[in-house]
Order: sequence, then structure tokens, then C-alpha cells
Amino acid sequence: MSQASISIHTWCFTLLTVLLTLQLTSVHGEQVLLGDPALTAGVPGSGPISVPQIEAWLDDEHNFTELTPVLPLGLSQGSSQITGLDENPLTRAKIELGRQLYFDPRLSVDSTVSCASCHDPSMGYTAQTKTGVGIKGQAGGRNSPVAFNRILSDKQFWDGRAGSLEEQAIGPIENPIEMGFTHEGVVKRLASMPVYAKQFEKIFGSVTIDAVGKAIAAFERVLVTAPSPYDYNEQWRAFQDLEPEDLEDDPELAELYAEAAAGIKSHFMSDSAKRGREIFFTEKGNCTACHVGANLADEKYHNIGVGMDQDTPDIGRHAVTKDTVDTGAFKTPTVRNVALTAPYMHDGSMATLEEVVEWYDKGGHSSKHLSSKIRPLKLTDQEQADLVEFMKACTSPTPPVETSRLPADA
Ligand code: HEC
Ligand code: HEC
Repeated sequence: MSQASISIHTWCFTLLTVLLTLQLTSVHGEQVLLGDPALTAGVPGSGPISVPQIEAWLDDEHNFTELTPVLPLGLSQGSSQITGLDENPLTRAKIELGRQLYFDPRLSVDSTVSCASCHDPSMGYTAQTKTGVGIKGQAGGRNSPVAFNRILSDKQFWDGRAGSLEEQAIGPIENPIEMGFTHEGVVKRLASMPVYAKQFEKIFGSVTIDAVGKAIAAFERVLVTAPSPYDYNEQWRAFQDLEPEDLEDDPELAELYAEAAAGIKSHFMSDSAKRGREIFFTEKGNCTACHVGANLADEKYHNIGVGMDQDTPDIGRHAVTKDTVDTGAFKTPTVRNVALTAPYMHDGSMATLEEVVEWYDKGGHSSKHLSSKIRPLKLTDQEQADLVEFMKACTSPTPPVETSRLPADA
């Protein structure tokens, strides 16, 4: 079997296992494995999306079936973290509208900046700038976080000030540094473009700013990371101690064993990365005190000392809770695909993963509100390199996404 067919086989198998589990819990709608390229392939055709093309798309009932998302291997252990689907059910039509809005610079006042300007799929859904750069080249105060695996989080932003993905999505449009527009202005502009107007009417009844937020959130919810070498290695760990005799009388177990073995073969994790995993997951590195769970992020806020040596440090979560213990605390970011998303930290102050690990090794920067979980680690150079290798093994593809097909102006 070729490497590609092995990995497709593993994916299908994972889907099957998850689907069987889901059947027991009586879910409605159609189940879709997130990462399925068809969800983000765009309206069929080429060039700007025309009125006849969108009419044909909106006439297809299939695009209005309610979807129940199934998470891929690795993320699947976080299924219970999914929120927001009752309030904003997923459909193909909504995901596609969100995709268009996400890549459309016409959501900014001078039509120069889209969500993708700062969360670019070709840059790991971030931007390679220290802080976000919006209209007229203005630089914001914080680094652009990733826009994938958002389905596993309710609160958004480094300080968690947005309560949902829907609420977050409409913020940048009226942020003067980012897209510099108004909600009224963007609604009027979208309503004047027939391809957008038709979609909003059929999906939401009319063009409203809430509907803009819902469509973008639906699109973001399907942006997930595929299984990484780390995930295949975790899957394998459950089987590695089995003896040949254990498999003899159990064909089902033997099949699972074979799948897991194929997974690590086609998604190799180096010995250095495996050693790094041990450091990451144990007291030695203590990384999983915060980078834990399916997305390797605890959805909590910590002061690890970053930027606290500034004259007027960013107060982070404190601005939201007004609680002094939250001073300088920021939301734990994922380490999935972190190798693709330099620079690092809320202020973009670290250029490489080596620099980040060195920071932790020293015990961060002394600061009044420093988390008690941060302390000098005293790792050797090799151990630090192993940690970096482990984080690199948490790299995997996000779904291919159509980025250029947008509604025609008129
Ligand atoms: C000018 C750059 C810029 C633009 C344009 C922009 N963002 Fe962001 N985005 C950022 C920055 C910077 C942050 C972090 C801000 C903060 O935490 O205070 C952020 C945060 C986010 C988050 C929160 C992620 C998390 O882990 O909490 C999401 C989701 C997001 N943006 C999606 C979008 C969408 C959708 C759009 C388009 C409507 C958009 N962004 C437009 C720079 C940008
Ligand atoms: C006390 C909780 C905590 C512990 C322990 C912790 N982290 Fe973090 N990590 C965070 C927070 C919070 C941030 C963001 C901090 C900021 O920007 O101010 C972060 C940021 C990072 C980043 C940058 C990600 C990005 O997208 O900018 C990496 C990489 C990282 N941590 C890796 C590690 C490793 C490796 C360890 C173990 C040696 C570790 N972390 C231990 C909470 C923690």
C-alpha cells in the first residue's frame, strides 16, 4: 500500500469508529468529518461568483442539511468542548457564505484588508508580523492568534473578552486599526451586492451584522487540524505493549493494531520528539499544566511573565475580570501547528520555538503575578531541543480552502 492510501485508510477507519460511537448517542442531521475538503471547496465554477451560480447553489437542498461535525483523530477527545451549534447550526450554505466573507477585503472600509490578511491559511492561519497589521499599514497591539480549532473554544481573544466565535467575528470589522469600517456600513455594502444579498436572504432572512458573525463562525468551525505525528503516536501507545498472542483470537483488535501501526509508519515521530513528549507531559517540563487537552490548550488564562518588563505592560485578562490576580494573564495558545506560526506570544516578542523553550527554562520573567506553575526547569541543551522537536511533531495539515472565489461586485 502507498503512504497516501495508508493515511486515507486510517482516516476512514477513524471516521467509522467515531460514527459508530455517535450513533449510540442519537444525533440529528448529517455527520461530516471535519477536514473534509468538500466543505471548503467553494461554489462550483471559476472566476467571481455570479448570480446564476449562486442561485443554483441556493436551490440545492443538500446545502441546507444540518451538519453534525465529527472531529478527526486527536481532536476527537475534545468533542465535549464543542459549543455554539444549537444557537448557530452548521450547514454547507452557511459555511460557504462564511468562507466568502472571511477572504473578502470588501469587509474593510477601503477594501484592502480581510480576515485572511492577519489569519492567512498559507501562514498557518496567522500573519508573520509581530502584531496584526490592518488598514493603511497600522500595527495593532497584539500578535494574531490562529483561526483554526476554534470549534473547541467558547471564549475568544488573548484575554477572552469575546464570549463566542460569533461575537468575535464582527469585532475586527469596526476596529479602527484592523478593518476600520462600521457594522452599518458593512451591512449596507453586502446588501448592495446581489450574490451576497441572495445568500443572506435565503440563509438568515436578511443581511444583518449578527448574520455576518454567524456565517464567519460557521466557516471557522470547520477549520481543524488533521491528525499529526503526535496524534498517531498517541494512538499507537495504546497498543504498543500488546503481545502477538493477544491478537491471535481477536481479529477486531488485530485490525485496530494494524491501523495504529500503519499510522505511526506513515506519520513518523523522531526519537528526539518522543523524548520531548515525555518532558512536555511530565513534571520535568510541566507544559501540560496549561497546554493540555485535545487542542493542547486549557482555555484558561495565565501570567507567564511575557512583556511584564515593559514600562506599561499589557494587563491582559485583568481588563475583562477586573481581578488583580489576572494582571498580565493571557489565554494559553495551542501548540498545534505552532512550528508554522512564528513569531510567538501575545506581543509577538519571541521569534523562534528555541527562544520560547529557553524562556521557560529560565522560569520566565519575574513578575508580581507570575503563575506558580512557572519555575526554572534546568533542562540540558538536548532536552530543550527535544521539546522543540516534540512541538514540531504536532504539525498537520488544515483542510484545503478555496481562497480566491468571491462574489462578483454586481
Ligand atoms: C489587522 C489584523 C487582523 C484582522 C484584519 C483580523 N484579525 Fe483576528 N485577530 C487579530 C489579533 C491581533 C487578534 C488578537 C487580539 C486580542 O486578543 O486582543 C485576533 C484574534 C482573533 C481570534 C481569536 C482567536 C483566539 O484564539 O482567541 C479569531 C477567531 C479571529 N481573530 C478571527 C478573525 C476574523 C474572523 C476576522 C475577520 C472578520 C479577523 N480575525 C480579522 C488580528 C486580526
Ligand atoms: C502556566 C501555564 C503554562 C505553562 C506551564 C506553559 N505554558 Fe506555554 N503558554 C502559556 C501562555 C498563557 C502562553 C501565552 C503567554 C503570553 O503571550 O503572554 C503560552 C505560550 C506558549 C507558546 C507560544 C505559542 C504562540 O502561538 O504564541 C509556546 C510555543 C509554548 N507556550 C510552549 C510551552 C512549553 C514547551 C511549555 C513547557 C516547557 C509551556 N509552554 C508551559 C501557558 C503555559
